[in-house]
Amino acid sequence: MAQRVAVGIAGTGSYAPPVVMTNHDFEKLVDTSDEWIVQRTGIKERHFAEASQATSDLCLEAARQALDSAKVKPEELDLIVVGTLTPDFLLPSCSAILQSKLGAVNAGAFDVNAACTGFLTALHTGESFIAAGRARKVLVLGAETLSRFLNMQDRASCILFGDGAGAMVLAPHAECGRGEILRSTLGADGSGYEFIHMRGGGSRVPPTAESVARGDHFITLRGREVFRFAVLRMAELIEKMAEGFPRDEVSLVVPHQVNARIIEAALERLDWPMDKCFVNIDKYGNTSAATVPMAFHEALAQGRIEKGKLVVFCAFGAGLTWGGTLLRW
Ligand SMILES: CC(C)(COP(=O)(O)OP(=O)(O)OC[C@H]1O[C@@H](n2cnc3c(N)ncnc32)[C@H](O)[C@@H]1OP(=O)(O)O)[C@@H](O)C(=O)NCCC(=O)NCCS
Repeated sequence: MAQRVAVGIAGTGSYAPPVVMTNHDFEKLVDTSDEWIVQRTGIKERHFAEASQATSDLCLEAARQALDSAKVKPEELDLIVVGTLTPDFLLPSCSAILQSKLGAVNAGAFDVNAACTGFLTALHTGESFIAAGRARKVLVLGAETLSRFLNMQDRASCILFGDGAGAMVLAPHAECGRGEILRSTLGADGSGYEFIHMRGGGSRVPPTAESVARGDHFITLRGREVFRFAVLRMAELIEKMAEGFPRDEVSLVVPHQVNARIIEAALERLDWPMDKCFVNIDKYGNTSAATVPMAFHEALAQGRIEKGKLVVFCAFGAGLTWGGTLLRW
């Protein structure tokens, strides 16, 4: 059997679209308050795409940054994988549109839908292609335009989400010399598919005037149940990814930005210090598949990742799905 190629992160990028929606903006739409939203979620504002923008446009901005920082040209890419639940169209994929916009003429392209675990699923896929010798340069993204699927009359869900994109260029570690991926895991339990759900628009409930009038295309949540699952799963994933390493070797945990209280409760279970965890949900809300790559890019820019130390990614979401990654920066 051919030897596994070690895979590294050659570059990163992040993009938040220009429209900023504050909690005060939501006070005008639903019966809520800035105080409630900050206390229960940690969110102060989130970004929404402009009317002219769709998910591939957000991807393009993040992808260009990632390619620049990796010093990789679009035509060097062998593969593009976008994790998204809000592609521009049901057909074709967001990745195919991005491939054309980038001029990545030598790349294959497909999307993966694992909801908020979408980026970690794209990362796992890209890593596997390089590790198996099937690709050398892979662009992976998590990107969403969730604002198009929010019920602006449902205060329990509309305040939680934002739009954005995060990207990474993956390459053999021997070439890029940083961000070696040491471990990854993915999991799923589809029996919980109704917990976080968009009922309409697919083959089960195709789009009709009636289904749209019922609001079947909006995201619905069973927030309290998700809360419990999320705390347990996040704690398990961090523990599993960091297993066997002394804690002081871990520079930072970059978790899915789902709710600041969920992150705090998970860390408390592990007795893990908050200053070793990156939280930027106050600025972006939950951007689903985009949270982890956006947060990692920001953490790097802020100098929060120590060279040679470990970083843990963890995420979970609709499906239910979950994933974790351990890397050495
Ligand atoms: C949604 C979430 C923020 C709600 O927080 P919570 O502390 O669990 O609050 P509860 O659902 O228990 O609701 C408490 C009260 O606040 C009310 N409430 C809900 N949203 C509100 C809002 N935006 N503003 C003011 N009050 C609100 C509820 O109606 C409820 O009122 P009641 O006690 O009179 O019934 C939290 O459960 C959560 O983040 N869950 C996970 C979200 C998720 O699934 N994300 C996607 C997965 S990746």
